[in-house]
Amino acid sequence: MTAEREILLEAKNLRKEFGGLVAVDDVSMQIYAYTLHSIIGPNGAGKTTLFNLLSGMMPPTRGQVLFKGKDITHLAPQRRAHLGIGRSFQITNIFPNLTVLENVRLAAQALGKDNFRMLKSAAGFPGYEQKAHKVLSRVGLEGKDDYFAQALSHGDKRKLELGIMLAGDPQLLLLDEPTAGMSSEQVPELLNIIRSIMTDGDKTIVLVEHRMDMVMSISDRITVMHQGQLLAEGTPHEIARNQTVQSAYLGALYGDLAGEMGAGGG
Ligand SMILES: Nc1ncnc2c1ncn2[C@@H]1O[C@H](COP(=O)(O)OP(=O)(O)O)[C@@H](O)[C@H]1O
Ligand SMILES: [Mg+2]
Repeated sequence: MTAEREILLEAKNLRKEFGGLVAVDDVSMQIYAYTLHSIIGPNGAGKTTLFNLLSGMMPPTRGQVLFKGKDITHLAPQRRAHLGIGRSFQITNIFPNLTVLENVRLAAQALGKDNFRMLKSAAGFPGYEQKAHKVLSRVGLEGKDDYFAQALSHGDKRKLELGIMLAGDPQLLLLDEPTAGMSSEQVPELLNIIRSIMTDGDKTIVLVEHRMDMVMSISDRITVMHQGQLLAEGTPHEIARNQTVQSAYLGALYGDLAGEMGAGGG
């Protein structure tokens, strides 16, 4: 896939305690550039907490986060965004009273690398608008530019959320359960959009998901979390065959899902 294995994001011995609870327990991992790396695990495994540590929403109790080798452990989310780290905001970042297009255009303007130069030039506003149109077609919202964001279906809001992220041209996208709350018919479309973002070749995605079946077909690498710790890491193929994952995790916790997949429902 990639000739060079450049580490884009790295967690070093991350730990997060909430009172007496250790939500993230000495987690170290590397995210390689241009890969889609999924973090999976059952509810309560510590995925969202790890996500919050990576995106800067929370400080770790211990440990470090490095982006391109640079220590960003104590950088606020907004500063990380300017470095090229985009994260999903789970819909709350959408302005409900603005149109779909305006939401994406504002995001492009807010994070436009050439902010000032662009605004001074005649290309400024139309430039951002053009960018917004491009992003909207990328996330499957073309034709809905003029809808008020609040009028969108839940599934379309998740696409808009993705569009708002993409508008800032992040190198790294952090997605926490982007399909949450979607109907099962909407899920494949969103996964296809995520897949198509990867085919551009310039993005790296960290995808947090509790459903294993969701990530198997789209991930380059998978990290399995369990009770705050890393249980296993590898390619989807390796994870599917991993004995520890299978016995300690898949069997016990995904028994119903494994049954579903194996027996084709029923
Ligand atoms: N802000 C918080 N305060 C206290 N406990 C929390 C907080 N956030 C998460 N937890 C606890 O940390 C553990 C991991 O939660 P979380 O990271 O949300 O797991 P996941 O995303 O894998 O479902 C859970 O036991 C949860 O109750
Ligand atoms: Mg979570």
